[in-house]
Amino acid sequence: MKNILIDCDPGHDDALAILTAIANAEKINILGITTIGGNQTLEKVTANAKNILEFVNSDIPLATGQSGPLTKELRIAPEAHGDSGMDGPYFNGEDYPISSKNAITFMYEKIMKCDQKVILVGLGPLTNIALLIKVFPELQEKIEYISIMGGGLNHGNVTPLSEFNTYVDPEGAQIVFHSGIPVVMSGLDVTEKAEITVKEIDSLKDKGRVSHLAYELLHFYNKSGRQFGFIHSPIHDLCAVAYIVNPEMFSGTSYYVDVVTDGKARGLTFADKRLVTDKGKNTLVLEGVDREMFVCLLLDALELLDGE
Ligand code: RIB
Ligand code: CA
Repeated sequence: MKNILIDCDPGHDDALAILTAIANAEKINILGITTIGGNQTLEKVTANAKNILEFVNSDIPLATGQSGPLTKELRIAPEAHGDSGMDGPYFNGEDYPISSKNAITFMYEKIMKCDQKVILVGLGPLTNIALLIKVFPELQEKIEYISIMGGGLNHGNVTPLSEFNTYVDPEGAQIVFHSGIPVVMSGLDVTEKAEITVKEIDSLKDKGRVSHLAYELLHFYNKSGRQFGFIHSPIHDLCAVAYIVNPEMFSGTSYYVDVVTDGKARGLTFADKRLVTDKGKNTLVLEGVDREMFVCLLLDALELLDGE
């Protein structure tokens, strides 16, 4: 059993990652979920997280984190996720309890209370996770690894060089990469191969209620992706969860990875592939994925949740 904490900015792909984690309860124990300003404002991404959790009658504890990055101004992504941050489905806005504790205290207490190591899952800018490991350095030995969707060694998606999550908070990302805690990086190199096809999206439309919710999410997300040249839809954040459930579906290489914090290359993640530094290999960079296994993980999760 893997004990995890998910920090996210729902976000269409965040939502699908959360649903898949919930459905894989025989392997994953979600200690809590925290939100971070990213795809949309903290208020909007938190409302989206509440809607997803309420939709599947979850009782996973939820807390809110930082509204924006450590030093930079928040950059949101309505062009990709819409004005709500999760356009497409309609939710009746049922309420869902939110912890009175901020995400950093919330995560600290969950980790300290757990008698096993915990995996941190970062699906948005890494501000909350960076603050957690800075404020509570004693947690280092209690964290197995940090599985992030972020970065990319070959290209960006918010600038030609930088991926959105590491661009929004490069200092947060740098704290994570420098922490000494092992990182598993699902960067664009692998996430853009982790695509669901239009046909697979359409197959969800007339299935159960959770599959139909995923259809509504992916139908919007697919249309939105066309402006960036995508035909099918990369489910970026799902990679960071899928690795925990079934790492065998991925291939990757360990490198020393770091991130540029300022200037034109702000948010660019780079790897020491030629061993020209004396830095240890801090990151397993995922590079390949069995796409069919990846999509099956999602479809199986949705089918299970349909039946609950
Ligand atoms: O670049 C993709 C990442 O940015 C994903 O986490 C998506 O949800 C957005 O936050
Ligand atoms: Ca995200």
